[in-house]
Amino acid sequence: KNVNVAIVGATGAVGTKILEKLVERNFPATSIKLLASKRSAGNEIEAGGNTYIVQETTPEAFEGIDIAFFSAGGSISEKFAQDAVKSGAVVIDNTSAFRMDPNTPLVVPEVNPQELKNHSGIIANPNCSTIQMVAALKPIKDQYGLNKLIVSTYQAVSGAGVEAIDELAEQSKQFANRSEIEAEVLPSASAKRHYPIAFNAIPQIDSFGESGYTLEELKMINETKKIFSDQNMSVAATCVRLPVVSGHSESVYIEIDHDDVTVKDIQSLMENAPGIVLQDDPASQLYPMPLYAEDKDEVFVGRIRKDLDNPKGFHLWIVSDNLLKGAALNSVQIAEALIK
Ligand code: A2P
Repeated sequence: KNVNVAIVGATGAVGTKILEKLVERNFPATSIKLLASKRSAGNEIEAGGNTYIVQETTPEAFEGIDIAFFSAGGSISEKFAQDAVKSGAVVIDNTSAFRMDPNTPLVVPEVNPQELKNHSGIIANPNCSTIQMVAALKPIKDQYGLNKLIVSTYQAVSGAGVEAIDELAEQSKQFANRSEIEAEVLPSASAKRHYPIAFNAIPQIDSFGESGYTLEELKMINETKKIFSDQNMSVAATCVRLPVVSGHSESVYIEIDHDDVTVKDIQSLMENAPGIVLQDDPASQLYPMPLYAEDKDEVFVGRIRKDLDNPKGFHLWIVSDNLLKGAALNSVQIAEALIK
């Protein structure tokens, strides 16, 4: 069967990686159409020895498309996803636009592939920080139960797009030249105030909700419960942006149902979990770091410790490339599962 693919946001940080992953994984696409804003129309992008010409995203652009990846921001998904569905395409959406819609499956293929069959045209790709966390915690929850989770994140700027990567580079130069640091992009383009990310840590990702949690934190909380289909889980998140280009890190505290589980037990679960790599040997200073996770498909887990006071508590350090498993790779894996 022919599979005609479109990528909306093809010039962006995630869109570029979706094209790379389709090529690298020999995705059986008959054609690949690259869509972005009018500004990029006519630009050329090379991948796998082919040259693609970027076209403007319009309602008509989806004619004949079977799978449409969306990664151009929530407002673009809201504007065009239904056009793609009406043209007969299945939309795999990387934005937060439809994630919490009860009719939209929110899928990490290693965790809840069974949800894929329930779609009505749109499948949502979870938030990058959520994906790597649930991928690592899934085998633990299955084996030992998992009722309580507290996560603090250390997130890379690439999650905020190409402009944020450029801003970190610029500010680093400004810092080195001892000139004034200009901040215009982070914590988020729509924010009233902007702060430097170079040599800083910003405890705000996305805007604030009424509860005092940021929307990024609420995404982690709500998406985790939806993906695990467990509304009774207690989940709390604090999300922080760091001057890292790619690779989100997470310090995760969990409470399981049993008090006789050892670090070795958790380690062996990680060793056997799909898409997970255990990097946990303090004696040889082996632990995951974002610099070494960049461009890697896997989720890296280390620093596994039993809580010193609570025998049901464990601490883990989880790192993955936010543009790959956190976004482009997970989306392409969803597409692969769909056509299987
Ligand atoms: P463009 O490069 O033409 O602006 P990122 O946030 O990672 O930098 O990427 C944002 C992506 O969303 C880019 O591919 C960008 O295309 C695309 N985009 C932005 N605005 C629109 C729009 N109005 N219609 C379609 N795509 C858009």
